[in-house]
Amino acid sequence: MTNTTHTNLIEVEITDLAFDGKAVGHIDGKVIFLKGGLPGETVLAEITRTKARYFNGITRKIIKKSDKRVDAVCSHFHECGGCTWLDLQYEDQLTYKQKQVNDCIERIGALKDVNILDIIGSKEVFHYRNKMEYSSNVTEDGFTLGLHSRGSYQDIFNLNECHISQKTDGELVKWMRAYIENNNLTVYDVQNHVGFIRFFMLRQTKQTNQLMVNVVTNYGDFPEVEKFVNEITQAFPFITTIIHSQNGQKSNIAIGETEATLYGPGYIEEKLSGKLFKITANSFFQTNSLQAEVLYQTGFDMLNPEPDDKVLDLYCGTGTIGILLADKVSEVVGVELVADAVEAAKLNAENNGVKNIQFYQGFVKEFLKSDFMKENNYNVAIIDPPRAGLNPKALKQLITLNPEKILYISCNPATFARDAQKLVDSGYDLPEIQPVDMFPHTMHIELASMFYKR
Ligand SMILES: C[S@@+](CC[C@H](N)C(=O)[O-])C[C@H]1O[C@@H](n2cnc3c(N)ncnc32)[C@H](O)[C@@H]1O
Repeated sequence: MTNTTHTNLIEVEITDLAFDGKAVGHIDGKVIFLKGGLPGETVLAEITRTKARYFNGITRKIIKKSDKRVDAVCSHFHECGGCTWLDLQYEDQLTYKQKQVNDCIERIGALKDVNILDIIGSKEVFHYRNKMEYSSNVTEDGFTLGLHSRGSYQDIFNLNECHISQKTDGELVKWMRAYIENNNLTVYDVQNHVGFIRFFMLRQTKQTNQLMVNVVTNYGDFPEVEKFVNEITQAFPFITTIIHSQNGQKSNIAIGETEATLYGPGYIEEKLSGKLFKITANSFFQTNSLQAEVLYQTGFDMLNPEPDDKVLDLYCGTGTIGILLADKVSEVVGVELVADAVEAAKLNAENNGVKNIQFYQGFVKEFLKSDFMKENNYNVAIIDPPRAGLNPKALKQLITLNPEKILYISCNPATFARDAQKLVDSGYDLPEIQPVDMFPHTMHIELASMFYKR
């Protein structure tokens, strides 16, 4: 190895940032992916893994600092798996996100002649998230409640502050930790599958000031439930609803098999572009409320809806996109897997006086080949799938349906590029893509794009 300087430490010049936010450099012609470090910096790194074509490592010391580096505002920055780029100034985060969209379109999609517009920055850069899942786990000394340590599925650190979630989250998490301790509640041991408290979820609206506390536990009644509700609502009078979700499954996900409302209506409501949307414990809702308005408006501007458009809103969640679009088109049909979200979507349409919309619960791939679709024609499809992108069968059926226009909103440029290539190969033009930043300080990227049948 050519550039060894200290025992076990290698000098590396950082040239780029990878998709997962890791710093990229080269040693002896091989790529090294490092935790820590920014482009333009020279660092001393420890190699943690050697593979045939690349190394993994950790930056131990920065020898030459980048002028793009800023002081990370959070005391948890070095341990937390959340904000990878809190030490990179925001304009440069946007530059790297833009570059990653460009790279995906070019390398994964192999698409040329696509105009990738300049990324739209987030209206709020701090305290923008309306939903957080705080996890717990047992430790040798007792338990922890907070967020995942960087790079770990099981290690949870005790969170005291967070600069992307709502300002009161840190106090609420500290309070819950003290409550667990003072009341001898047990915490779920993710290895041995015993113990009670699993997740402490907070959802807080931006435009209506409502706060949902959702405690996800193993099976069983919440001990001294009235005491818990009284004490937490006294400490935080702005809580508007409390849910107790039970999940006894080994897979460690923060979704209850059953839900009981302990306080308030059991849901919160957020305003987007003048309409009110009901959000239940498990239904998807864009996590950056203010920027969701920007994302949806960007998509609608690109779609340029016509009064006689018949629209499919696939992966519709609680119906936000379809409901906001309905008065500009002839009719909308929303499709969503989560039953809870479909119920919320129906109520959202009713509460907002939207009559030309229907919702169906099920898998998109099943819905697209249903009798309903054999009997009805839709000239516009809006697709907003999860990070995995479109299921290949769903994509094939969508192509068979042959809509004139497809608005594709994506939270993963890599799977988007894969799907975009198939759409283009199947007879669609993709003139432009608009990246929109919904997730400052993290490496996540959102984009909106329009496909037109040739
Ligand atoms: C990225 S969210 C978009 C939600 C909505 N369009 C919005 O903007 O709020 C993706 C949604 O797809 C749903 N979903 C995931 N897989 C699905 C499938 N195979 N069929 C139907 N819906 C699915 C999820 O439950 C989630 O609500």
